[in-house]
Amino acid sequence: MSKPYYLTTAISYPNGAPHIGHAYEAIAADVMARFQRAQGRDVYFQTGTDEHGLKMAQAARDQGMAPGELAAKMSQLFIDMCDALDVTYDRFIRTTDEDHHKACQAIWTAIEEKGDFYLGRYEGWYSVRDEAFYDEKELKEGEGGEKLSPEGTPVEWTVEESWFFKLSAYQQPLLDHIAANPDFIQPTSRRNEVVSFLESGLRDLSVSRTSFDWGVPLPGSEGHVMYVWLDALTNYITGVGYPDGGDKWDKYWPAACHLIGKDIVRFHCIYWPAFLMSADIALPEQVYAHGHLLGEGGIKMSKSLGNVVDPKQMWERYGVDALRYFLMREVTFGQDGAVGEEALVTRVNAELANSFGNLAQRTLSMIHKNCDGVIPAAGNASEDKALLDDVMAAATQKLPEAFDRWAFSAGLEAWLAAVYACNAYVDTMAPWALKKTDPDRMAEVLGTLAAAIQPLALALLPVAPTGAQAILDQLKSGEGGQPIDKPTPAFPRLELPEQEA
Ligand code: MSP
Repeated sequence: MSKPYYLTTAISYPNGAPHIGHAYEAIAADVMARFQRAQGRDVYFQTGTDEHGLKMAQAARDQGMAPGELAAKMSQLFIDMCDALDVTYDRFIRTTDEDHHKACQAIWTAIEEKGDFYLGRYEGWYSVRDEAFYDEKELKEGEGGEKLSPEGTPVEWTVEESWFFKLSAYQQPLLDHIAANPDFIQPTSRRNEVVSFLESGLRDLSVSRTSFDWGVPLPGSEGHVMYVWLDALTNYITGVGYPDGGDKWDKYWPAACHLIGKDIVRFHCIYWPAFLMSADIALPEQVYAHGHLLGEGGIKMSKSLGNVVDPKQMWERYGVDALRYFLMREVTFGQDGAVGEEALVTRVNAELANSFGNLAQRTLSMIHKNCDGVIPAAGNASEDKALLDDVMAAATQKLPEAFDRWAFSAGLEAWLAAVYACNAYVDTMAPWALKKTDPDRMAEVLGTLAAAIQPLALALLPVAPTGAQAILDQLKSGEGGQPIDKPTPAFPRLELPEQEA
């Protein structure tokens, strides 16, 4: 039995409705979770919302709500999004959950007992949007001469009493860990970025706040709430039973992978492993940082440019399978990439509807009409065997090898090449012509195609679960010599909505 597989996404700030980047991360993680389950692994998959901190407190104040009220309302939208997108999470964690408070206090106590905290005074720059402290030397200048974080967000000068974590003591242990575990940070470009940041030296980290109270209160430190990133990162161990341990903990920790976006690499690849080392908790096996989705033309999405893609509009207009397939296929995972409705419609029509959907629909219709609905045996001619060999190599080797290393688009490309090979085979064999001249051969050709479609649908299942399952069900209805049900298209053609005047 292969090792259990614990997979997490970043937990989102529920200060607004989910955007396409959140949908992207949830879908990618779900594709991996479904894929690993199909490989026979025992998967635990966690996602959720990050509800404390100044950013949430300020968003709530702006909307005239209590932070807890805003968090509850918006968190529900993230749950609804996951459910709408067929995301098969095992737990949706909210950092306001009771067990999470307990885990936060426990990791705090463990680090304290290690002697890694000291009381001091933070004086420096803080970005509320990133919930991050920055060094003066990291800041850049905005268009109006104002100071901005490396992420381009506003920073404010902050002075307050604070607990500090001895992050500087972990510089060498982190470098050693990364050197000894080349897959710990992926893709490699992100690992290199982390290594050079580490080599430039680490400063101790402020890990409590005293100027507001929306957070986990610190055990024994009146007026201090835990820095929101220490709180948020701890969700990964809360979800599997920290600090009590138990079956889940024994089975699933350390996590197989934390999937995150490229903007939060520092928190996951430096702060989090340092906290874990200090608390004597094993480190996750991997942190994988995906790229960011950009608007059409490769421009960063922003409300002011009006190019923000609404995920809900996408799945309501085009369907969940189409959105999932498009996002996994369009952008090389790990890199940034532009997305938009036109690109979605073009790609989904070409690849899912016309190439694969139509192949299945044509084949099953011909079997339904011309073979009394009974799926014939595959042929034994060299072309038949060559096609099935190609299909099996793509569906059971190339796609799985690619998916296993998060290369979704490359995996789907190999899958698509096999779909094209099936379509070329149909054109050459012309079963509709064989119907009159050689019905036995027609039956072999249709049987070969049915035998090819089955593993192709199975391979597609993690990405486009509803349509792929519909094809598998249609094939299954013909098991044991039963006639198959009259087929209906599993991947309909899409159309862009009429241009609004
Ligand atoms: N709350 C923190 C994460 C804490 S994890 C312990 C956070 N939240 S977030 O809501 O800002 O982002 C959640 C995830 O969405 C992050 O992994 C982030 O990279 C990802 N994305 C945000 N915008 C994105 C795109 N435009 N494209 C792809 N992913 C994007 O950070």
